[in-house]
Amino acid sequence: MLVSIKKSYEEVSKAAAVLVAERIRRKPNLVLGLATGATPIGLYQELIRMNREDGLSFSKVTTFNLDEYIGLPRTHPQSYYQFMWEHLFRHIDIPSRSVNVPDGMAGDIEGHCEWYEEEIRRKGGIDLQVLGIGANGHLAFNEPGSSLGSRTRIKTLTEQTVGDNARYFKSIHEVPKTAITMGIGTIMEAKEVLLLASSASKAEAVRAAIEGPITALVPASIIQMHRKAYVTIDEEAASKLTHTFSG
Ligand code: PGA
Repeated sequence: MLVSIKKSYEEVSKAAAVLVAERIRRKPNLVLGLATGATPIGLYQELIRMNREDGLSFSKVTTFNLDEYIGLPRTHPQSYYQFMWEHLFRHIDIPSRSVNVPDGMAGDIEGHCEWYEEEIRRKGGIDLQVLGIGANGHLAFNEPGSSLGSRTRIKTLTEQTVGDNARYFKSIHEVPKTAITMGIGTIMEAKEVLLLASSASKAEAVRAAIEGPITALVPASIIQMHRKAYVTIDEEAASKLTHTFSG
């Protein structure tokens, strides 16, 4: 695990973009796992800039998103599908057929989850998976208590996660209570993982994930078992770490 502590959110975003861009330049048909949430927005802005100004092309890249709310149509402004188009896909040269976001309106959700796993396999597996971390230690929508071997499936969100995400909806009652999420086993099969975190609200989760015991109660702690994990965080998110890591 390579922990890199940056002075600011902007530096976290730039360092993450440099790593993603390097992997795309090395393998233009990279299979890239993506995350939603406030944290990766800066990374996506930087990738958009690199696409426009530095000749970084996504024309052969395939993406797989981690998760999606169940019950929100893709046209809903708070669906993760919309989020990805708004914050990244519509600004870069990626063909729409190359992006994959779980479909929270699928008729047969379980069948859809199996299909999603199969699609990842068919593309040769995820080369690099971008991850955020929940204040409760969740990874994607794998909430505390999720099986560390889990695959893509339906999960019920915890009250904390529903509360954390309520800021994006008109009222907390509109926040979906269930989601499709890649499993922890799915995420761990990515050849490399890049976990990003910013702000003091993540400090305890970051500490538990990288210095605490590996436990299903802190799903992100599984990252300690990954052979190629990069953890790029700002000083506030690193403020509860007791070991010293250099940037
Ligand atoms: P955030 O969410 O980036 O909006 O903080 C991360 C997460 O919950 O995984």
